[in-house]
Amino acid sequence: MHQPLPKRSFVRHGFLAIYKRLQNRCKDSKCRNSRVFGAIFPANPALSGSTDVPAMIELPQGVHHWPGYLDHQQQKVLLSLIREAVKQAPLFTPRMPRTGKPMSVRMTNLGSHGWVTDRESGYRYQTTHPQTGTSWPPMPEMLLNIWNELSNCSRPPQACLVNFYEAEAKMGMHQDRDEEDFDAPVLSLSLGDDCLFRVGGTQRGGKTVGFRLCSGDAMMLTGPARLAFHGVGRIYPDTSDLLKQGGRINLTLRRVTA
Ligand code: SIN
Ligand code: MN
Repeated sequence: MHQPLPKRSFVRHGFLAIYKRLQNRCKDSKCRNSRVFGAIFPANPALSGSTDVPAMIELPQGVHHWPGYLDHQQQKVLLSLIREAVKQAPLFTPRMPRTGKPMSVRMTNLGSHGWVTDRESGYRYQTTHPQTGTSWPPMPEMLLNIWNELSNCSRPPQACLVNFYEAEAKMGMHQDRDEEDFDAPVLSLSLGDDCLFRVGGTQRGGKTVGFRLCSGDAMMLTGPARLAFHGVGRIYPDTSDLLKQGGRINLTLRRVTA
């Protein structure tokens, strides 16, 4: 049913990664270079005194980024799998613990476990959808294959959190720490409009780096970055035509139990 996955070598970040990033940049027709390179070239060349030397983005150790990992056809296949799942497990609005303040993303899950949050019980995983009370849709084989190719983790992911961002949505800096197993990485796939993704260290309020995640990109937090603070600063509307109504979908694959 799904397309074979591209064979890409595991790239450590540094110069080679930046080079790969430039080479493999989002092939989406609306994803233009000026936007794509925004995070790589100095925002203001006048200040750097140069227009042609890239400002190296050193990603923290353990943060891996595969730009354009999924081609357009694979993105469409994955999107159709998500659309099918959402029919069974509709998007819901998560609420912050205690305050009940709604988050700006809507979400759902696939797999045996799903991440949810509400005012009464806070952040947690559960095996059923909070509104329908039924099990989450199964993890598609395509996602299992991607996990096997990229994660270096022999145990399969148990949760795929699906976040849907409209143009104004964002996500505050946080750690993914509701899992029992921090040895397994968190693997993210992006579909639709670009976003500004920020990642820092394991202390809140520390230095962060920001870079774009485009449709088809894969990104992983592993090892020393497994508990890195990260978030989505903004969406860049109208940068992809994958989703007819615009917006961004992010999938995060995780192991939940030890
Ligand atoms: C998340 O941290 O749950 C989502 C990150 C993203 O949307 O890229
Ligand atoms: Mn997260």
